[in-house]
Amino acid sequence: MEFLDHRASAYAEKFSSPLSNLLTEIEQETIRNHPQAHMISGQVQGRLLEFICRMADPQNVLEIGTFTGFATLCMAGAMKDNSVVHTIELREEDAKISQQNFNRSGLAHRIKLHTGDARSIIPTLDINWDVVFIDADKVSYIEYYELTLPGIKNGGWIIADNVLFHGQVLTEEVTGKNARAIQAFNEHVAADNRVEQVLLTVRDGLMLIRKK
Ligand SMILES: C[S@@+](CC[C@H](N)C(=O)[O-])C[C@H]1O[C@@H](n2cnc3c(N)ncnc32)[C@H](O)[C@@H]1O
Repeated sequence: MEFLDHRASAYAEKFSSPLSNLLTEIEQETIRNHPQAHMISGQVQGRLLEFICRMADPQNVLEIGTFTGFATLCMAGAMKDNSVVHTIELREEDAKISQQNFNRSGLAHRIKLHTGDARSIIPTLDINWDVVFIDADKVSYIEYYELTLPGIKNGGWIIADNVLFHGQVLTEEVTGKNARAIQAFNEHVAADNRVEQVLLTVRDGLMLIRKK
């Protein structure tokens, strides 16, 4: 995962505010117990998501790809009490773990977990989104973008994770199914005049996309 200079990542972690005790526990439990622990957002990205939610003050957030609920809690913790994070997780085991984590957080009233395939769940949610965080299977990123963009309020945000895909999009010829899907997504967004965007070299690459 770490293709950026690990000294810069360590420095960013050192000078970013530490996680709460619960988020530290969830991160450590995920690292200890989950075979795909590298998928967790982690401290710096988690703090960034939290800050974005503080700044945007969203009413409705959609997260696509819950995993163990780490990023969900970073966002929910920065939101007001009558706001909701809808989060969608395909795998029942991960959904179960994340719901347990939500229950221990005191923030469960701000979170609605949907278990199943985001591609079929998103069209059933008749909600105007302020912020959408795309962080599930890479081959569906364009589909998630096109499914959610019409329902995003003007001036609202899409945040897409892994847009550098472990550095694999930096090579002249991009190979591999996921890296090619991410490259296609980045090009799709760049060519879309409904939005403006900035690609941040945070962790595995984070694209902030603003609907005009
Ligand atoms: C990178 S992880 C999410 C990490 C989490 N957002 C965080 O920051 O801690 C991706 C998650 O997306 C889920 N996923 C993959 N395909 C999906 C789909 N079609 N619908 C819903 N979730 C999906 C995976 O099971 C996995 O838990």
